Amino acid sequence: MPISAPERSLLEVGGLEAGYGKIAVLHGVDLRIGAGEVVALLGPNGAGKTTLLRAISGLLPVTAGSVSFDGQDLSRASPREAARAGLVHVIEGHRVFTQISVADNLLLAGYDLPRGERAARIEEALSFFPEIAAKRHDRGGALSGGQQQMLAVAQGLVRRPRLLMLDEPSAGLSPVLVDRVLGVVSELRAKGTSVLLVEQLIEKTLAVSDRVYALAQGRIVLEAGAREDDLPHRLERAYFGEDVPTALHA
Ligand SMILES: Nc1ncnc2c1ncn2[C@@H]1O[C@H](COP(=O)(O)OP(=O)(O)OP(=O)(O)O)[C@@H](O)[C@H]1O
Ligand SMILES: [Mg+2]
Repeated sequence: MPISAPERSLLEVGGLEAGYGKIAVLHGVDLRIGAGEVVALLGPNGAGKTTLLRAISGLLPVTAGSVSFDGQDLSRASPREAARAGLVHVIEGHRVFTQISVADNLLLAGYDLPRGERAARIEEALSFFPEIAAKRHDRGGALSGGQQQMLAVAQGLVRRPRLLMLDEPSAGLSPVLVDRVLGVVSELRAKGTSVLLVEQLIEKTLAVSDRVYALAQGRIVLEAGAREDDLPHRLERAYFGEDVPTALHA
């Protein structure tokens, strides 16, 4: 079955290599995301998913290859420049500020937005999360762990991203809250925002995604439409190196 890849890419990553000091982690990663697409990035622990997001958003230097966003070369861009271009990364295990209010956490996330726009942006971000909107004047520390995780996502939304990259936003959440967070991903998609979603929960993640990439040992080992047959099984095989297309071995 053909993969319904987007005609026009918002994000184009080509031949990307990155790592930590002398340790190479990513080995020639190619990935693209169309405008309004939700793309899942799955893979076992240590595969390089977080490293890939960090390299895309400029938190980690790219040692080879390219990152292009809406035609703009972001290969050497700082996280701030990437965020200004509309590419926002909510990092794995992001912690909110517990001593200041929920609203001030959101204000900080939008510190460089035009003054006249900030209040509206905060309301816009809160509109996705009624349970934390009701607590906007409470300290961040007064929120439950799950609500703090939602606040971290809301901090990304304050910037009104064109592409939001979420690194395991559902980690440690109860099943009900997992569904809430993934529901927000669907709402974003309906509004035309692209999402790159790193997750461990294969079936729930596929249910809200258009396409999926699997990463194993720093290489893309599978690319598929999220509705393709037998995908959970194929993904698991890909994780363990039994479903690698020959073209991807090079
Ligand atoms: N700061 C670091 N310094 C050195 N090596 C690192 C660092 N961070 C990650 N690594 C290594 O890079 C590889 C990829 O790690 P990464 O965190 O990107 O994987 P991941 O797919 O996000 O895993 P997980 O599912 O556990 O979040 C691993 O071998 C890891 O040990
Ligand atoms: Mg990770």
